[in-house]
Amino acid sequence: MNQDLDAYWMPFTANRQFKKAPRLLARAEGMHFYTPEGRPVLDAIAGLWCVNAGHARPKIVQAIQQQAAELDYAPPFQMGHPKAFELAERLVELTPAGMNKVFFTNSGSESVETALKMAIAYHRVRGEGQRTRLIGRERGYHGVNFGGISVGGMVANRKMFGTLLAGVDHIRHTHDPARNAFTVGQPAHGAEFADDLERLIALHDASTIAAVIVEPVAGSTGVILPPKGYLQRLREICDKHGILLIFDEVITGFGRTGQPFGAQTFGVTPDLMTVAKGITNGAVPMGAVFVKQEVHDAFMNGPEHLIEFFHGYTYSAHPLACAAALGTLDTYADEGLLTRAAQLEGYFAEAVHSLKGAPNVIDIRNIGLVAGIELAPLAGQPAKRAFDVFLDCWERGVLIRTTGDTIALSPPLIIERAQIDQIVGCIGDALKRLA
Ligand SMILES: Cc1ncc(COP(=O)(O)O)c(C=O)c1O
Repeated sequence: MNQDLDAYWMPFTANRQFKKAPRLLARAEGMHFYTPEGRPVLDAIAGLWCVNAGHARPKIVQAIQQQAAELDYAPPFQMGHPKAFELAERLVELTPAGMNKVFFTNSGSESVETALKMAIAYHRVRGEGQRTRLIGRERGYHGVNFGGISVGGMVANRKMFGTLLAGVDHIRHTHDPARNAFTVGQPAHGAEFADDLERLIALHDASTIAAVIVEPVAGSTGVILPPKGYLQRLREICDKHGILLIFDEVITGFGRTGQPFGAQTFGVTPDLMTVAKGITNGAVPMGAVFVKQEVHDAFMNGPEHLIEFFHGYTYSAHPLACAAALGTLDTYADEGLLTRAAQLEGYFAEAVHSLKGAPNVIDIRNIGLVAGIELAPLAGQPAKRAFDVFLDCWERGVLIRTTGDTIALSPPLIIERAQIDQIVGCIGDALKRLA
């Protein structure tokens, strides 16, 4: 393919390296991408944790095509369109009990900003305007906007961008390979890491803290699971001190861990929950924040003709996104995809853990249809070994993802067992070849 690659400044990409040896995807269907030359590549990462139902699913494609012809756009401020309301009603049928309000955004990053602003504003409308502090977690990823990188804890995403939001602090992360390496499913050790929140409360005083935000399973940092009892303990501490708990479910949402949401897999209900990605199967940008009834109701005060929450996006509840999301929910329901990861979890776990003992593998972590395979870094060249495995698998027809020296797998939920074997076989071969 003879195409000029110069003008496009690519996101989260080693641009110069990529443009010397580009990896282009021209078409996709089901479990596969196809290169411009027509070479199939098995998608082991659901695009970017988003194509949960597989690619180019007919109900989603048709919904988008029809919607584009019927209503291309409708302003979301002081106006509405029927599919936005229909979608909201459908979505809250899936959420944990009591989380029955939805605010629409266009991405995970926007969902996070929205949730953080809601949390601060919630305390203010209740007369606790001094609760402005936000608590995130080390190694957390909450998108790339200023609020998200402030509560986030991935250093490369933060260090270039100045002082970030004021009044943010972080609890410690839960990665503890000394005690938990090669655990199948949730690790046994580390519930006590939640007590780090008590340390920050003792430092700042609960009366200054609006919310705590965590990913139920930290994805972008390399798949870190919540130790057993950890999320329950965070919930208890938040309740004790009147602090809102936000779950960032941008990757755990829509079936990834075996239930519609991580909140249900882990049995802990937050006050706000951010989603994106799988809400439209990745087909049209969309995000959302799910909100507990009480949090929403706190805003519904004052004169009825006044706007209650001064926030929203030109493309909130965009008609194409709503149509895509409805087609997505139909596809998930028709094929039982939101619980399929629970059925495949045992097979998937056994397959990925079979890589224990492969060259340079120092830990393997899994839940539902997510796995992290951590490699020992090459001396003086962090992230290089995993990236070499990525390149090797790409050449051999499997698309994986790496973050640091961890390989992160999150295949579409339609994956078949033979395809799990293909992915794991390809990684195992690459590890041997590169050893
Ligand atoms: C937990 C989490 N939050 C937020 C985001 C940001 O989403 P987006 O890239 O759609 O802005 C991501 C993206 O991977 C994520 O994993």
